[in-house]
Amino acid sequence: MMINITGTGRALPENIVTNFDMAKIVETSDEWIRERTGIAERRISTGDTVASLSAKACEQALEMAGKQAEDVDLIIVATCSPEMLLPCAACQVQGMIGAKNAVAFDLNAACSGFLFGLSTVYGYLQTGLYRNALVVGAEVLSKIIDWTDRSTCVLFGDGAGAAFVEAVEENGENAGIISISQGSDGARGMVLSCQERKLSNPYIKDAIGEENNFVHMNGQEVYKFAVKQVPACIQDALDRAGLTVDDIDHFVLHQANVRILEAVAKRLKVDITKFPMNLNRVGNMSSATIPVLLDELNREGKLKKGDKIVLSGFGAGLTYGACVLIWN
Ligand code: UT7
Repeated sequence: MMINITGTGRALPENIVTNFDMAKIVETSDEWIRERTGIAERRISTGDTVASLSAKACEQALEMAGKQAEDVDLIIVATCSPEMLLPCAACQVQGMIGAKNAVAFDLNAACSGFLFGLSTVYGYLQTGLYRNALVVGAEVLSKIIDWTDRSTCVLFGDGAGAAFVEAVEENGENAGIISISQGSDGARGMVLSCQERKLSNPYIKDAIGEENNFVHMNGQEVYKFAVKQVPACIQDALDRAGLTVDDIDHFVLHQANVRILEAVAKRLKVDITKFPMNLNRVGNMSSATIPVLLDELNREGKLKKGDKIVLSGFGAGLTYGACVLIWN
């Protein structure tokens, strides 16, 4: 069975917030943000939700794949910033697009979420339990960011990307997802965290938990984790695929920071031009970065049949993953 991406889509809020706009909110500068991160502007929701952005991205992916909403077997929304704990975002999306035959659930692996969603779908489709799936990475991070903390608020943006993934019978062509490598390191998880509601019930005197439920990050520890773990994970996925870095046409990585991407390229001894980037325009959208970038490349005609692509995500958890696929 070949597991192919046959449609992609994306949706971004219209509201553009530049580094100059950020400098009006916190003590920062365009120069500092660009130099340390590569980000110039990001999209910030003024009403869009994880579910509404996801639904738009899914509709585009379905249209590209030539499928109707009723054809969808499975919807996975990877997110760490849903509007609702219940119902999950994927069920909201199912209702919005009318995918009445689909099974729908959310998955949280932060910035690795799209990759982990794709690997989950890969497993389902390989067993034959389902024939196709919509995998979405979607975030409205702006509501869980501390807008008084300059070390985090300048980094993130809102948006959603989707891929329609189908299982097709082998036809002698080498295509689709070839290999996957994933890992998690919960022991180091608190370097990038966000508290949910406090534990509070009639049996405890004082509520237990953080006072402030915003994103907290030790940027340097996350940086060190990423530049060490991501190249190793990509190398493992390549080894499993029987390929080398030289075989790969595009390295589509989680868009956290241009310096991380440059360091990964250097460690892998790959020219940075093989690492497409859009974080200057959209910032770090956690689980949405990979599918949004993939859709941009796809719609710009930059992905050719037979191109070998590495997708790789990394972030809170800590979690990391890479996948090798052949575009068709
Ligand atoms: O999806 C995964 C998400 N995580 C990441 O991408 C994080 C990876 N880490 C990084 O990209 C970097 O660690 C950051 C970009 C977050 C920070 O860069 P850094 O070079 O590690 O800076 P730093 O935290 O060491 O801070 C250096 C200085 C500090 O000032 P002092 O103590 O030297 O006076 C900070 O207070 O920069 C200051 N600073 C800022 N200055 C202007 C921190 N944020 C800002 C800011 N504007 N926005």
